[in-house]
Amino acid sequence: MLSPIELRSDNAAGAAPELLAALTDANSGGAMAYGGDAFTERLQQVAQEVFEHPDAAVFPVGSGTAANALGLSALCPPWGSIVCHETSHIYVNECGAGSLFTGGGVIRGIRGDGFQLHPDDVRRHLDSVNWGDPHHSQPSVLSLTCPTDFGTVYRPAEVSALAAVAREGSLRTHLDGARLANALVANDCTPAALTCGAGIEMLSLGAIKNGAVSTDAIVSFDPAVNEQLTYRLKRSGHVASKMRFQSVQLIAYLTDGLWLRLAERANAAMKVLSDGLRSLGLEFVAEPQANMLFVHVGDEVAQRMADECALHFYTMGNGVVRLVTSFHTTETEAHEAVRRIASVAG
Ligand SMILES: Cc1ncc(COP(=O)(O)O)c(C=O)c1O
Repeated sequence: MLSPIELRSDNAAGAAPELLAALTDANSGGAMAYGGDAFTERLQQVAQEVFEHPDAAVFPVGSGTAANALGLSALCPPWGSIVCHETSHIYVNECGAGSLFTGGGVIRGIRGDGFQLHPDDVRRHLDSVNWGDPHHSQPSVLSLTCPTDFGTVYRPAEVSALAAVAREGSLRTHLDGARLANALVANDCTPAALTCGAGIEMLSLGAIKNGAVSTDAIVSFDPAVNEQLTYRLKRSGHVASKMRFQSVQLIAYLTDGLWLRLAERANAAMKVLSDGLRSLGLEFVAEPQANMLFVHVGDEVAQRMADECALHFYTMGNGVVRLVTSFHTTETEAHEAVRRIASVAG
């Protein structure tokens, strides 16, 4: 019998052993509750060093949706709109959380080739708005997702160019970095280069998909916003009493490049998988640049992959399947997945 290969989601992977060890480290003795502990204090310094920004402040939260919605609520007024790509998670997959927490702000998904926004897309949208007209939501935030929901990756220069357009229109800038480590590895750049150094003012820092236990974070680079976030988080139930267990994981995650090493494994496994599937002549929806691949296999092959190959994956309709690698996926598994797909796709 074939052993199953997990390719549904990096959310389906377990926890990284290093982060489980960090949890144990934080488990001796008592500590001040609600973020008053030494780990949470240290986390702020670690983030300031990693992002090379003296005002970086980290707010641990329990999910990527919480990081996005609560972070955006501090940037967008109730009458504002958050401009993002039409495929972005905040627009398609968060059940209006951004609108709820902004108190009525609109999430505006707009088109952009290759699952990414380009400066002209944003300019065109901003030009189409009735500025100052109280009958219309006022664009207030530009939110980018990197890697995108289709596994492509913005380059630092592309983020800078988009942030410049946002500044021209007085929009704040937000990055959904649910898989930020995978994007940094793909870009081979520093964390600052793709975020605050490129004009991003707030970031959802994903860690769960890359090995953490129920801990993502908001990273904000603006002291005025940092202050109000504290209250917004508390009102939404996101100030964990035992925050030390979130903070200790984030410290370990960001220290000595652990987050990048974990993401390197995911991206390397994806490279093996995508090179193999390309050599079978399969067509990709987008070129995978991090750890997600959407590939046309046809409905019949997709069914056989599920029934005969012990592969776990998502079907997206129209014969497209989604394959995602994680820190846990080995290159051996990726080769084996290609071999199994070849056996039914030939
Ligand atoms: C790009 C992106 N942003 C945000 C999220 C939200 O994360 P969560 O499911 O933890 O709320 C996801 C989850 O898949 C995601 O893919």
